[in-house]
Amino acid sequence: MVAGGIRKGSASFVFMEKCFMHRVLLRSQWLERIRYRGMTNETPLSREQMVALLNEDLAREYQAIIAYVIYSKTIKGAKYTDIARELEAHAGEELSHALLIANQIDYLGGTPISTPKEVKISSDSEAMLRFDLENERQTIGHYRDRIRQAEVMGEFALSEVLRTIIVQEQEHLTDLASALGIDAPEIGN
Ligand SMILES: [Fe+2]
Ligand SMILES: [Fe+2]
Repeated sequence: MVAGGIRKGSASFVFMEKCFMHRVLLRSQWLERIRYRGMTNETPLSREQMVALLNEDLAREYQAIIAYVIYSKTIKGAKYTDIARELEAHAGEELSHALLIANQIDYLGGTPISTPKEVKISSDSEAMLRFDLENERQTIGHYRDRIRQAEVMGEFALSEVLRTIIVQEQEHLTDLASALGIDAPEIGN
């Protein structure tokens, strides 16, 4: 018997125990948010602000899809055969990123944007790879910011989605840098 005449093991006792555990979980999540904000000293974004930033990310994903579709089919030269295949694979991955970001925008109550960032085109194969490299470098920088912002907001599911995406963006950057025979560039933040 516990306080209030509730018998240990009874349905009421199990219910009270679940409520208690739920409160413990909520408190630990709340403390985690406070601790993270204390570490970063950042003010959480509103949902509207996050939607606006995610729509910028989505526009960059559309840009990447278009660029990789075009570049994978127009890049010329025997030395670029392998990277042409990689670029085609990147196009598919960028589409999956766009779907993931659009899903998060919808979850936050926003509407996914319909226009891509500008896609640069060149007849020079190396120039195309350099455009892609710079786009990936900028994309990674933006996702690093977005992960931190999502954490400060306590949007841990969003931050997990962004972490999954950033892993692939870093692989894209590495693929492009090795095709160009250079080291992967610094991201800058
Ligand atoms: Fe992407
Ligand atoms: Fe990418």
